[in-house]
Amino acid sequence: MVTTLLEKETAEQTMQSTVQLQMDNILKVNNLEIFYGEKRAVNGISMDIEKNSVTALIGPSGCGKSTFLRSVNRMNDLIPGARAQGEILYEDINILSEQINVVALRKEIGMVFQKPNPFPKSIYENITHALKFSGIKKKSQLDEIVEESLQKAALWDEVKDRLHKSALSLSGGQQQRLCIARTIAMKPTVMLLDEPSSALDPISNSKVEDLIVDLKKDYSIIIVTHNMQQASRISDKTAFFLSGDLIEYDATEKIFTNPSVKKTEEYISGRFG
Ligand SMILES: Nc1ncnc2c1ncn2[C@@H]1O[C@H](COP(=O)(O)OP(=O)(O)OP(=O)(O)O)[C@@H](O)[C@H]1O
Ligand SMILES: [Mg+2]
Repeated sequence: MVTTLLEKETAEQTMQSTVQLQMDNILKVNNLEIFYGEKRAVNGISMDIEKNSVTALIGPSGCGKSTFLRSVNRMNDLIPGARAQGEILYEDINILSEQINVVALRKEIGMVFQKPNPFPKSIYENITHALKFSGIKKKSQLDEIVEESLQKAALWDEVKDRLHKSALSLSGGQQQRLCIARTIAMKPTVMLLDEPSSALDPISNSKVEDLIVDLKKDYSIIIVTHNMQQASRISDKTAFFLSGDLIEYDATEKIFTNPSVKKTEEYISGRFG
């Protein structure tokens, strides 16, 4: 996997120059700074992300959660003037390196956005589009992946008889689960979810939450949420951001019952933000 992300010689150089990852961490962030032009939005944060766990990012609007999340699969590259410094190690490779193949990286580190964004195509094509692009052409194989990813996203039973209907005919909650299925189909190792259920009704929201808990068997998940109950229900670790700083990062239970920093306590108890 690793060698698909980098040119071979560069991979060797990068491996020599970076800290080895702990076995149970999938990502290691070292002194990450992110700028939009002159303005710094993330102020040198460091954190390890555990494998097969759910990590929640919380904090008031504008504190840098989405900026951080997008840096993990290099989506900030699409924003003119955005740049990052520091390291995000994934399989011992700094994914911020210039030599990274970002298309390969985004297959391994998939992202689901706040607003469901299916393509204006059929449900089936939404899932197969990127697969075909990555070289899978056989119909039987595509059929199999479509069913498997829709099953995993808890959507199969609702759509199995209408796979060739437009994805836009689905409800918002179904569209979001389709976007999750589309990400799962690429078999990523890490899934980045930016407020994935904020636009959903309570039933769809609870389906998406169950799904996230279920997915951590196979994936490492980082989720941004403004919903404190959601963070405490589904995450193993919680990171509290404030004005681009990582204020506190600990086991979710600790953050929500006995945080070490006063600002965290004030935020989770609703005193600001
Ligand atoms: N494309 C951009 N260009 C310039 N500045 C940006 C851009 N995106 C975000 N910012 C700025 O970076 C800071 C962090 O924004 P970010 O979107 O990461 O916050 P957030 O924690 O995700 O907030 P929210 O909870 O509202 O989604 C803010 O000051 C924001 O104005
Ligand atoms: Mg955001």
